[in-house]
Amino acid sequence: MVDLRSQYLRIKGEIDDAIQSVLTSTAFIQGKEVGEFAKALGSYVDTPYVITCANGTDALQIAMMALDYKPGDEIILPVHTYVATAEVIALLGMKPVFVDVDEKTFNIDITRIEKKITKRTVAIVPVHLYGQCADMEQILGLASEYNLHVIEDAAQALGAKYSFTNKKTRHAGTMGIIGTTSFFPSKNLGCYGDGGALFASDENLAEKIRMIANHGQKVKYHHDIIGVNSRLDTLQAAILKVKLNYVDEYTRKRNDVAAYYDDKL
Ligand SMILES: Cc1ncc(COP(=O)(O)O)c(C=O)c1O
Repeated sequence: MVDLRSQYLRIKGEIDDAIQSVLTSTAFIQGKEVGEFAKALGSYVDTPYVITCANGTDALQIAMMALDYKPGDEIILPVHTYVATAEVIALLGMKPVFVDVDEKTFNIDITRIEKKITKRTVAIVPVHLYGQCADMEQILGLASEYNLHVIEDAAQALGAKYSFTNKKTRHAGTMGIIGTTSFFPSKNLGCYGDGGALFASDENLAEKIRMIANHGQKVKYHHDIIGVNSRLDTLQAAILKVKLNYVDEYTRKRNDVAAYYDDKL
């Protein structure tokens, strides 16, 4: 569905230079491009707390580890998503509680969430699908009423914006306590392998997420908490840094194609 070859050929010079520069530096793990890309991504989605990781599935798992959920806790998510959203909940010994989707948007049906909330519910995970945001205003309202976290799965929605009724707009992934995204090659912003990121809502959480994604350490060989090995490769960060400059153009073009189909069909 995404013509990755022609996408690459159009920016080949820039991409090849970026890759070559990493090869020359040999800083394959946590080279400078990782931090540079995280910063640029933060400016793009308008949040200072960006933590990159190895893929969008890990991003969800790390989010749930950072929020200290326990086996048996329940997490509400839409039935219609990629398996990763439910998979990580089960992997951490928790219970995925599925809610049907709205037939127009295919996003979680807000009218069906409340009856699935129990004493064990800890979070709602809206999955913003096909570049559209779930009904965040209502979801955030419900979550605050029941004291639940909102973790946004924005793997398919990087660049999408949500407008609140007070006219404030926020990027997908930056409205809940944590947002996650994926840089799988066919995603809105895709790398040349696996990659992912989290958006945290404050510095303390960002710090904890950063530690979990890197074996629970802040200082090398000082492993303060249980973590995982989930770092974004420097090569992928270098590629993403280049492609981030084109992501709006890719989205515009995809919208043009969609409009053409709408018109002709
Ligand atoms: C909605 C959704 N969540 C999570 C993921 C997992 O991302 P990744 O493939 O980078 O692990 C994907 C993508 O495949 C996805 O579409």
